[in-house]
Amino acid sequence: MAVVELQAISRSFELGNTRVTALDKLDLTLEKGEFVVLRGVSGSGKSTLLNLIGAMDAPDAGEVFIHGQALSSLSDKQKSQLRSRYIGFIFQAFNLIPVLTALENVQYPLSLQKVPDREAKARAAKALAQVGLADFVDRRPNQLSGGQMQRVAIARALVTNPDIILADEPTANLDSETSKQIMDLLGSLNRETGVTFLFATHHDFVLSRASRVLELKDGHIVKDEQAHNLTLVENSPGEKLG
Ligand SMILES: Nc1ncnc2c1ncn2[C@@H]1O[C@H](COP(=O)(O)OP(=O)(O)OP(=O)(O)O)[C@@H](O)[C@H]1O
Ligand SMILES: [Mg+2]
Repeated sequence: MAVVELQAISRSFELGNTRVTALDKLDLTLEKGEFVVLRGVSGSGKSTLLNLIGAMDAPDAGEVFIHGQALSSLSDKQKSQLRSRYIGFIFQAFNLIPVLTALENVQYPLSLQKVPDREAKARAAKALAQVGLADFVDRRPNQLSGGQMQRVAIARALVTNPDIILADEPTANLDSETSKQIMDLLGSLNRETGVTFLFATHHDFVLSRASRVLELKDGHIVKDEQAHNLTLVENSPGEKLG
């Protein structure tokens, strides 16, 4: 079964007395284990699409299925349960809780799931080790570099064993070397755990690491390429989007 299926999704926003169409009858299926890059110029609807898949927002028309479950049929409570069970998020600004240590930040989504403290600690420590931060569990966010903070955020997304991790420009606040390391880390986590990744990004070097590249334009997917068909490779100048 597909991890995510979108059927004829439309989403528009009211702006003064006009309507902006962000997504227009869009269809998309994401399978387990895919490593998908979502591109498109600023305003093309990338964040809108991620928010719909993450059940943070609802479409005006069409249906979103997560694991075959139609989101429109769920209550808010059921949606948040589904989110916490199947979906991980990584944000551009990391969104860590400043007063908590790295370990406590990663433990947090497990506490929300009422996982017993001992088990939650052990799983959080394991997730931090997976992202190379075994020695940093007791640090607070302000005692970590940007790349390390993003690793903590990745561990927090992974710790619940989601089926899909949604990332909105996860490398936007990082220098290019750190960004590449983060992408390589996400790639190896994708191969090791089989978790599906969908990330919006403007960084072209990411393309050589993707298994599939989607491009949004005017509310539609105008390109959907599998990795073996990709023409852009790392270090090629490429078209800078956004
Ligand atoms: N809450 C909102 N109210 C009004 N318009 C919105 C809202 N959210 C998004 N839009 C509009 O919908 C369109 C898609 O926005 P979206 O944020 O999805 O783009 P994006 O591809 O993520 O852009 P960026 O690369 O700049 O992050 C844009 O025209 C935007 O102005
Ligand atoms: Mg965006």
